[in-house]
Amino acid sequence: QKHPDFNSLQELPDSYAWTQRDDVYNPCPSSPNTVLAEENVPVVDLKDPNAPKLIGHACKTWGVFQIINHGIPTTLLDDIERTGNTLFSLPPHQKLKAARSPEGVSGYGVARISSFFQKLMWSEGFTIAGSPLEHFRQLWPQEYTKYCDIVLEYEEEMKKLAGKLMWLMSASLGISKLEDIKWAGPRGEFKGACAALQLNSYPTCPDPDRAMGLAAHTDSTLLTILYQNGISGLQVLREGTGWITVPPLPGGLVINVGDLFHILSNGLYSSVLHRAVVNRTRPRLSVAYLYGPPTSVQISPHPKLVSPSRPPLYRAVTWNEYLGTKAKHFNKALSSVQLCV
Ligand code: SIN
Ligand code: FE2
Repeated sequence: QKHPDFNSLQELPDSYAWTQRDDVYNPCPSSPNTVLAEENVPVVDLKDPNAPKLIGHACKTWGVFQIINHGIPTTLLDDIERTGNTLFSLPPHQKLKAARSPEGVSGYGVARISSFFQKLMWSEGFTIAGSPLEHFRQLWPQEYTKYCDIVLEYEEEMKKLAGKLMWLMSASLGISKLEDIKWAGPRGEFKGACAALQLNSYPTCPDPDRAMGLAAHTDSTLLTILYQNGISGLQVLREGTGWITVPPLPGGLVINVGDLFHILSNGLYSSVLHRAVVNRTRPRLSVAYLYGPPTSVQISPHPKLVSPSRPPLYRAVTWNEYLGTKAKHFNKALSSVQLCV
């Protein structure tokens, strides 16, 4: 599927104009693109001795939180932002040289969830799973190594941070020993963890109230670490309240509980439904680090969180198996791996 040159459009094409009926997976049809709620997504200072407790509470009550003082250098966040901006500002024909193939995971293209919707989303994306080398060589024949190095360094730092968050989130559920998580290594690292990097670009839009940047979804991950440039757009659904904007904090990162952690926690922590809206004047960029288990590992409700009074709610699934379910059932994926109890 090909995108128009967003920047050349003075009007929203009908194919990009959403009505509430188009957003069939929006669980909150009475709330349009406006934000109803005045609550704030929790912010956790990772240097705060209370961080584990605060994270546990945020996961239980929100499924999302922001972190500050996380140790990722600001310069690296700037670098990945610049890489994304440079990539998306290439001419369309150049970006299409790195187009994602129909069966492929990596490369340039429309949002992966697009196939579930009639209308198109006002965004473009670039997924990196595995080495960025081949695609980057096509995008920047002269200087691809520079951008590859930035991506690799970013992924390396994100992997360490994701491991740390896995421990904090697990510990807050009472899973605190190495032997409790089979794929954890001797120093607490998560060996063989799989991850992908997703760059999202949301160009300015002539009619933002009728457009959708990225439709509502939950992430099929254990957890997601999201960096947003200084521009608002991410919203999370607060049960019973409405959509809430997650304001970009300088140097802050957004952590989403993903569906696989939802399963691991036996439903104690919920994956958060979120979407991205667009605006008229300021282009937005986000970078999502999608973190999951090794391909061979099955995720199931942790034995410590299962008891006769709290039977396992979900069956065991590998990440790939779950992605297959998601591709079939989209927003019903979690319930389709639910056990009858
Ligand atoms: C995402 O859900 O992958 C991206 C959300 C955002 O752009 O803020
Ligand atoms: Fe997402």
